[in-house]
Amino acid sequence: MAVIGHRTTLQEFVTSDWEGNGQHDGLDAVIMAIAEGSIRVQRQVQQASLADALGTTGETNVQGEIVQRLDTASSDIFVETLSQSGHIAVIGCEEIEKPVIVEGLVADGYIVLMDPLDGSSNIDVAVSIGSIFGIWQKKPGETVNEDSLLRPGNEQVAAAYVVYGSSTVLVLATKNNVCGFTLDSESGGFALTHPNIKIPADCPYYSTNEGNNKVLDEPTQKAITLLRDKYSQRYVGSLVADFHRNLLKGGIFAYPADQNRKEGRLRLMYEANPLGYVAEQAGGAASTGYERILDIIPQQLHQRTPLILGNKDVVEQTVSVIKGG
Ligand code: AHG
Ligand code: MN
Ligand code: MN
Repeated sequence: MAVIGHRTTLQEFVTSDWEGNGQHDGLDAVIMAIAEGSIRVQRQVQQASLADALGTTGETNVQGEIVQRLDTASSDIFVETLSQSGHIAVIGCEEIEKPVIVEGLVADGYIVLMDPLDGSSNIDVAVSIGSIFGIWQKKPGETVNEDSLLRPGNEQVAAAYVVYGSSTVLVLATKNNVCGFTLDSESGGFALTHPNIKIPADCPYYSTNEGNNKVLDEPTQKAITLLRDKYSQRYVGSLVADFHRNLLKGGIFAYPADQNRKEGRLRLMYEANPLGYVAEQAGGAASTGYERILDIIPQQLHQRTPLILGNKDVVEQTVSVIKGG
């Protein structure tokens, strides 16, 4: 039975939310392309085991990581749906070395940077995974090339992610607000279930890989110890799922730099910038431990970054300890 009932659908929301806002023509089509792609990815994730589609491709990606077959399938699906939206100029993707420049765009379009499937280590074991998207607008008259993607996070016009969990939820952040939409598997559409999300002031949870403690520098160890002493630990190992919990329930996610990962573990353009934008729009914060994530001027498409993300006050306290304060 379809249960969307009286709820606002994502299609209605993106049409009305931007009504009269001429600056962002076509953004509704980009969001709907993400939604369409995520419904296809969600189906593949659910059916993968039955379809013998799990496991690795035998290849490593540009970042030296093992590629899962679902990583590639998700990347292909989103490149297809975004390209067909008619409003995309260029796509940057964690799994693709060079940007995908979309031909035949007539009007000014959007730049999308994405992690098509986040949480590789959980793909084969029925644990929540997701997809993450940062969205920038092409500069007027700009001819896009590889450098067009190297824009700071503070220039994003929107960001979104989808969690494939016990339900499938799409969270969309714009300059107006952050809202969550749940997939109704019967009707096949997303409907508004989480209007105007704000990170709760209370911070019950911290999320970090405690196994890295021994390779942290001393101030960072101290910062993690303070979190451990105060909050309950929750760590899925899928950033998108850890972030989603902390966004709705209150919490902080920390993947700081360490001796083995001097640049950090997570990707600036595909993970930190989009989720940093969502966090800030919901009243939270995102930092490397030294600077605001959204202010970083990117040097490379696939660059990594340390990431401290979530409840604003707790991020600020944690950053001050990491800095040695
Ligand atoms: P991806 O699957 O896109 O490569 O990202 C995996 C990331 C992220 O989802 C998660 O927070 C982190 O890896 C977990 O890393 P550890 O296994 O080192 O804790
Ligand atoms: Mn990821
Ligand atoms: Mn990924």
